[in-house]
Amino acid sequence: MSPKNEVRPSTKKRIAVIPGDGIGKEVIPQAVNVMQATGAALEFTEFDWGADRYLRDGTTVPANGFAMLARDFDAILVGAFGDPRVKTNIHAKEILLGMRFKMDLYANVRPVRLLDAALCPLKNVEPKDVDFVVLRENTEGVYTDAGGVFKQGTPDEIATQEDINTRKGVERIIRYAFDYCRSHKKLDGSPRNKVLMCDKSNAMTHAGGLWQRVFKEISGEYGDIMAQHMYVDALCLQMVRDPRQFDVIVTNNMFGDIITDLAAALQGGLGVAASGNIHPRHTSMFEPVHGSAPPIAGKNIANPFGAILTAAMMLRHLGFTREPDKIEATVLEAVRQKKTTQDIGGTMGTKEAGEWVAEKVRLSS
Ligand code: NAD
Ligand code: IPM
Ligand code: MN
Repeated sequence: MSPKNEVRPSTKKRIAVIPGDGIGKEVIPQAVNVMQATGAALEFTEFDWGADRYLRDGTTVPANGFAMLARDFDAILVGAFGDPRVKTNIHAKEILLGMRFKMDLYANVRPVRLLDAALCPLKNVEPKDVDFVVLRENTEGVYTDAGGVFKQGTPDEIATQEDINTRKGVERIIRYAFDYCRSHKKLDGSPRNKVLMCDKSNAMTHAGGLWQRVFKEISGEYGDIMAQHMYVDALCLQMVRDPRQFDVIVTNNMFGDIITDLAAALQGGLGVAASGNIHPRHTSMFEPVHGSAPPIAGKNIANPFGAILTAAMMLRHLGFTREPDKIEATVLEAVRQKKTTQDIGGTMGTKEAGEWVAEKVRLSS
């Protein structure tokens, strides 16, 4: 603990920026530019972790890299990892999954909000109809890398991939979901009041049984919140058939990954979906839901709005309110005026769409 009267060298919030690979390197600079345009007291430090660095010197995460991020930064903004030159995807695994697992960022918060009716592929759906959040368990499940191969390359080969679910891990994400429901309002200002747990407990009975028991127990502590359940296959159907019914969804790591790409489609595609990887008391990490999109990388066509909305989410997490409100309102205005990239109906490039938002934010700050 530092003495009370010690002057901290900087009162600025310290942000680590890791653009990563592919379109991450194009969209993240736009997000940083927009944050700077708000005039908020922020200090950015960029890191070159990603495929280029790995191919150059074999480094994925430098020694004590995660400890350094936790110690020296208030939040981390990440682009995406994945490069066709790294066939094993080892760098993505070590950097991205490393951050989630080793920094214990157990809540992957993925808001699903339709900005404008024109962006939704469903008929007669308006922004108020798509306003839910997926809370994805982020440190367990089939992502733990437990398992192995036996008799590889022979006709008798066996591959196992274990699904790890701990009482502690399941309980904390379910509790996070109920607390989130209590403390977050919908965009129209109305309170959230439903938590839906999604699993596949009819087939995966061991892990599903644990999720079912813990959900029942924790929901009993939150009498003001409606507790619901859906199997993941049925949830996919309902998400497309009637997204209005969803409020807060909590699920495991893999189902959360899959349903948030589906949910992104309801919002206008991966180009606009934001996310946070959060531990309430640790330095947390924020990244757009999309990947590095190699086929469109380097062409100035990737949508920067997912990254920009992710930056707004990060600022809100850091305690800012006016700045993220302004960023979100400006992105909405850009969508309405079609000042966007091609994937959501505009004609602008990544840089131009990002700069349009930054300029508007700067003028109104
Ligand atoms: P992807 O998200 O990169 O792309 C899926 C589709 O969405 C593609 O058609 C792509 O062109 C489009 N798209 C994605 N982001 C867009 C944007 N901002 N603007 C416009 N269009 C956009 O997923 P993928 O193709 O399955 O994976 C590519 C690589 O990214 C792989 O190596 C994968 O492992 C990696 N990946 C990384 C992350 C991450 O780092 N968080 C997330 C997902 C995928
Ligand atoms: C995501 C991505 C990652 C995941 C990959 C790149 C490992 O798809 O963030 O949604 O599956 O979590
Ligand atoms: Mn994914």
